[in-house]
Amino acid sequence: MDQLKILREHLRQNDEIILNALLMRNSIVEEIMAYKEAKGLQILQPEQDEKRDKWLSERLEGKRHGKEVQNVFKSIVENSKRIQARHLFNYNIVLIGFMGAGKTTISDFLSTCFAMDVVEMDQVISDREGMSISDIFEVYGEEHFRNAETNLLKEMQTKHNVVISCGGGTPMRECNVVEMKKNGRVVLLTAKPETILERVKDSHDRPLIENNKNVEFIEELMLKRREKYVAAADIIIETDNKTELEICEELVNALLKFDAENK
Ligand code: S3P
Repeated sequence: MDQLKILREHLRQNDEIILNALLMRNSIVEEIMAYKEAKGLQILQPEQDEKRDKWLSERLEGKRHGKEVQNVFKSIVENSKRIQARHLFNYNIVLIGFMGAGKTTISDFLSTCFAMDVVEMDQVISDREGMSISDIFEVYGEEHFRNAETNLLKEMQTKHNVVISCGGGTPMRECNVVEMKKNGRVVLLTAKPETILERVKDSHDRPLIENNKNVEFIEELMLKRREKYVAAADIIIETDNKTELEICEELVNALLKFDAENK
């Protein structure tokens, strides 16, 4: 055999080892998830990510191609997270709630934990229209924006296992809620008006409250919406005084409970 053939054979054998190791890794990931579920252990453990990253950096210190290996690991971990996510929920997670209830923050956190794609509805609509939400309201009117929301939710029927972060007014249309529930579970995030005010006071892309940033107005609008929010929700999570991790852990457990009860 010439040298090139020998080297190629070495490479093939090496790939075989990597392949088997990856398949085994994925099975272990599934076993860990099943074990956590069976024992009622905490599902989200971001400190494990930190430990693994630290271990990897130490092991790769001074090594040639360290950056490349780190990239491969990053991708391996992302895929493991996706496997976990699919094991837990094979549907879209639809976050609803008042402005400032934490939909965007919690979507991002879930996306980090489970490598799920996020569809931030306001952002998608704003990108497509090429203008801010406030400008859409001003130039085309609220009805136009609401129709864009309905159309986007219909598009979401082709997606699975993504987090959809809705605008605060999205569940007001019953046809929107029907779309959400076709392949998703609806999670209502709530917060006290005082908490909402604190969270939204410095932002200027919420035309409905731009000139009414006070507890009374927020409370009144919230009350008007409450019935529809609750009717749309499969589960409800209060967010006041909780960390993102606490909220997400509660959310995941509530979804698992909901699924077990609604098989
Ligand atoms: C709205 C909430 C906003 C945005 C628009 C209208 C509402 O989204 O969709 O300003 O009707 O509550 P956020 O809840 O993400 O702020």
